[in-house]
Amino acid sequence: MKIVIVGASGTIGKHVTAALQRDHEIITAGSKSGNYQIDIRKPDSIRSFFEKTGPFDALVSTTGSGCFAPLSTLNDHNFRIGIDHKMMGQINLVLEGQHYIKSNGSFTLSSGVVFDEPVLQGANLSAVNGAIEGFIAAAAIELTNGVRINGVSPGVVEEAEHFFPFFPGHIPVKMEVVVQAYIKCISGAATGKIFKVR
Ligand SMILES: NC(=O)c1ccc[n+]([C@@H]2O[C@H](COP(=O)([O-])OP(=O)(O)OC[C@H]3O[C@@H](n4cnc5c(N)ncnc54)[C@H](OP(=O)(O)O)[C@@H]3O)[C@@H](O)[C@H]2O)c1
Repeated sequence: MKIVIVGASGTIGKHVTAALQRDHEIITAGSKSGNYQIDIRKPDSIRSFFEKTGPFDALVSTTGSGCFAPLSTLNDHNFRIGIDHKMMGQINLVLEGQHYIKSNGSFTLSSGVVFDEPVLQGANLSAVNGAIEGFIAAAAIELTNGVRINGVSPGVVEEAEHFFPFFPGHIPVKMEVVVQAYIKCISGAATGKIFKVR
């Protein structure tokens, strides 16, 4: 398969990329890294990226950030960090990408544990992950030509030590299991599903 991975250099993305590149043609993208530089916050940047990649079989998004901050400091301005980046960035990858994906292709997006298990300072990412999961459920029933869409919702991963202070009592999840959840989405038959790795 020809697989586009946005966020391929990241903590999770580099492992997903390593696992997939054994058997597939991989095109990577990031804001500074990868075969192509794109900014997922900008629909024009996403559109011109797909013009360059041409038709593809699968798109994996292992990107998307938000604003970790106390509720008392959140406002319309900093809340939009997660909205513009993790939420609309990933949703726009699908809205634009649906015009380039091949029949029976698949989209795989990233959500996260804080939708199901809120943590202190996590309101922005909880809201954004909920939006992504809602979008996946709805897009799955409208995508045509056998195109599928799923999400992976990891717990905090074992290599993301910088996040551990935000997740007291959470047992970090094994990267190998997270990677296999992405593989399930790409190579399996599910659609509209969120694979939760806890
Ligand atoms: N890490 C965890 O424990 C964990 C847990 C639950 C959910 N998640 C979710 O999983 C996803 C990946 O997390 P991660 O920790 O692996 O992320 P990460 O290490 O921060 O990596 C982010 C990736 O996205 C790319 N990127 C950043 N800004 C971009 C932009 N504006 N346009 C295009 N690409 C951009 C980066 O490449 P450049 O440096 O080249 O920009 C990098 O490859 C995120 O949605 C995160 O919320 C992570």
